[in-house]
Amino acid sequence: MTLTDDQLDASPNVSAQRDTVHAVRSEFDSLFTWDYERSRLPLIKLYEKAKTSQWNATTDLDWSVDVDPERVASELGIGTSDRFGALRDYPNSPVAKFGDREWLEVAVNLQTSLLSQFLHGEQGALLCTARIVETVPWIDAKYYAATQVMDEARHVEVFARYLDEKMGREFRINDNLKSLLDDILADDRWDITYLGMQIMVEGLALAAFGMMHMITTEPLLKKLLRYVMSDEARHVAFGVLSLQEYYRELTAPELRERQEFAFDCAARLQRRFMQAEVWERMGIDPQEVARILDEVNPPAQQQFQTLLFSKIVPNCKKLGLIDAGDGWLRERFTDIGVIQFEDWVDTGEEYTMLDEVAKDREVA
Ligand SMILES: [Fe+2]
Ligand SMILES: [Fe+2]
Repeated sequence: MTLTDDQLDASPNVSAQRDTVHAVRSEFDSLFTWDYERSRLPLIKLYEKAKTSQWNATTDLDWSVDVDPERVASELGIGTSDRFGALRDYPNSPVAKFGDREWLEVAVNLQTSLLSQFLHGEQGALLCTARIVETVPWIDAKYYAATQVMDEARHVEVFARYLDEKMGREFRINDNLKSLLDDILADDRWDITYLGMQIMVEGLALAAFGMMHMITTEPLLKKLLRYVMSDEARHVAFGVLSLQEYYRELTAPELRERQEFAFDCAARLQRRFMQAEVWERMGIDPQEVARILDEVNPPAQQQFQTLLFSKIVPNCKKLGLIDAGDGWLRERFTDIGVIQFEDWVDTGEEYTMLDEVAKDREVA
């Protein structure tokens, strides 16, 4: 149960709870179905996979390894080869006085902030998936969503533990991510929960996890990300397989609403990667950082931003959203330079290849 402001006021620990609890109000129908027949084969297959690929964060990961946050962060190449390197060379840059020490601090903060936003996003996924169990009308989807609730609890658990035990610091949720999660949860339409979370937030997370997994050599983080990605691929597939069926029945105006919602999600997710919270912590105006990066638009920034869309765009195509109506979403994705991903493999097909948990078990 989420606590309302009135309930919080009645609580003896009001100030403590106000800091730690955030309520999103929503009204939606919790649906029973009396049709227990298993008829959706792709969802049945996905559910079976989810049952056999569960893992235990306590015993399947080696938490005894020592992690040096500065070493982990320095692998990111912050201020040199990365998208923020352009700040360093900009005339009268707000970071002109930064030396190696400050750049290392930026790197540790950026890595911690990325992991913190993963953590908060995972909690968003936990709430959204618990919602889907109640709101989706099909029994096969309710079964699958129930396995995802467990997956998301495990993901919150691993990121929270990694930040606490290995990084020793944490960031609050990014404003763009927070407003997006609030909007997804406030909406009463079941497919919007899916579209916002499974397709957009998780599609982007899958790409972001993949990038961090590729860069880091820290063994605990690497394995943790491999395992989380195995689960996430199923989650995105769940969105694609469910919505593909539902969106075939929608009218053109209804589809247009979904196109606009998807694009708005994409824009806010893109802004969240400007990581305003890091620059604030370093005493730098984040709007100035965003302005400079917009103006310079360094190649590393362009590459980073476009790669983030490498899962979202093919999945939107598979749902029929890119070309629905007058192709509104195709035009938008073309404007922001990400339409080239439309024919990349979509996650409805990809999840079996990404099952690293099954691969490890086979080897063992
Ligand atoms: Fe997750
Ligand atoms: Fe997920």
